[in-house]
Amino acid sequence: MLLPIPDVLTADQVLRGRQILEGTEWVDGRVTAGHQSAQTKNNMQLPEGSPAARELGAMVLAALEQNALFISAALPARVFPPLFNRYQGGQAFGTHVDNAIRQVTGTPHRIRTDLSATLFFTGPNEYDGGELVIEDTYGTHEVKLPAGHMILYPSTSLHHVRPVTRGARVASFFWIQSMVRDDGERTLLFDLDVAIQRINSDGGDQASAVQLTGIYHNLLRRWADV
Ligand code: NI
Repeated sequence: MLLPIPDVLTADQVLRGRQILEGTEWVDGRVTAGHQSAQTKNNMQLPEGSPAARELGAMVLAALEQNALFISAALPARVFPPLFNRYQGGQAFGTHVDNAIRQVTGTPHRIRTDLSATLFFTGPNEYDGGELVIEDTYGTHEVKLPAGHMILYPSTSLHHVRPVTRGARVASFFWIQSMVRDDGERTLLFDLDVAIQRINSDGGDQASAVQLTGIYHNLLRRWADV
């Protein structure tokens, strides 16, 4: 499932984030790349665990905890501490698949990357190029979202970032280990949840809504690891 999630951050949060990101030190993005992707990655990142990354990461995680669409779609078990990157002056990231397992630096924790997320801090009119291009079984999708919006996609997908030829593309990126590791099962649960919510908001038949909610939880019980 490829899902845009609008307004993860408010305009004020985006502004605050940009102020911090503009006033801090960046390093070569290859520090977090695996062996293969390091050869095609050309961007800048905030150092993992730097004060700026921690402060902004906490802001992003707090926003995600309150985002019903994110929770319904991702069914998150663990979220990797958000990282931040910047592409400018022709920088790009060639086609790759994200590493399956990521160690959280400085901790004994590992997460399995079921879902990848990119949360934009600059808007589409502020730079040329920089599209996130994701390949899945339904074809190739180009993603370039307004500031504060996020794209969620299966980490199994091949993807790349086109060269940024004007301005700067600044974003947060991170991974989610889901309680439901299989994308097909997770998508079924999300579709069912959306349908139940529609029945409820339409004032539809409550007995059916209760029964479907029961089915939702029984499927979740069957498929989830916590
Ligand atoms: Ni990637």
